[in-house]
Amino acid sequence: MGGPGIAIVTGAGRGLGHATALALAERGYRVVAAARSAEAGEAAVGLIEDAGGEALALHLDVSDPRSISEGCAGLLPAIAEKWAGSTIDVLVNNAGVGQFAPLHEVSAADFDLTFAVNVRGLLLLIQALAPHLSDGARIVNVSSSLSRHVSPATAVYAASKAAIEALSRSLAVELGPRGIRINTIAPGPTATDFNGGAMRDDAELRHGLGQQTALGRVGEPSEIADAVVALVSPGMRWVTGERIEVSGGVLL
Ligand SMILES: NC(=O)c1ccc[n+]([C@@H]2O[C@H](COP(=O)([O-])OP(=O)(O)OC[C@H]3O[C@@H](n4cnc5c(N)ncnc54)[C@H](OP(=O)(O)O)[C@@H]3O)[C@@H](O)[C@H]2O)c1
Repeated sequence: MGGPGIAIVTGAGRGLGHATALALAERGYRVVAAARSAEAGEAAVGLIEDAGGEALALHLDVSDPRSISEGCAGLLPAIAEKWAGSTIDVLVNNAGVGQFAPLHEVSAADFDLTFAVNVRGLLLLIQALAPHLSDGARIVNVSSSLSRHVSPATAVYAASKAAIEALSRSLAVELGPRGIRINTIAPGPTATDFNGGAMRDDAELRHGLGQQTALGRVGEPSEIADAVVALVSPGMRWVTGERIEVSGGVLL
């Protein structure tokens, strides 16, 4: 099989996942665009194919363990049929939710949803795909700069991202003997639909957050996507178990 291999990106329908799926396809990866809505996955595949790339849609709700097991069971035959491939080279666990609320408004339901998507879904997907990862595969888990610095009303979200980082270090040791590298990237404020699109659409907030970064602005999705591409490249082959912040230097 030619090219750098097969990459799966979760939450590929929009935002950072969408940009990452497109960026990996541009670099020659065959991309599995995993999305909660079948339409969003197919739309991402269409864009990649229109640009001359190769892609496959995967319908996946990472909050639902059955969706993960059924999705992965169907994925391997689909990869074999489309690309005559049997292993996965890159897994980007990007899908995530942020339930922002001050302490007195935090609910058990919000906590459970945040951890079901951001932590449990990520873990179960790695578990389901681990037997099918190539030796030397790369996993990138998407954390947040909020696991390092604090902001009001973000306790549950920040805790879920800190959990991702701890989990990534542990799994880097477990899967290291197969040459599999696992790292987290921690984006700073980036202009997407996240948090109601505030970092993209609220000029005052953008300005304020930009002032908190060394480079003086909020990030763009392509800047996170390019960092993911760099992290999975051979030049980073000796890097595993790390957390790399991609934030323009937020709150240094
Ligand atoms: N933007 C930022 O400032 C920022 C900063 C730090 C970290 N992050 C992290 O970056 C990642 C991507 O965020 P974003 O900025 O691209 O936000 P976004 O535009 O809100 O996108 C979130 C993505 O996650 C997917 N998703 C949510 N719940 C899911 C589920 N149960 N199953 C499958 N997919 C699910 C969404 O799918 P649907 O389209 O179906 O909802 C969407 O594709 C998240 O992990 C987020 O925590 C973002």
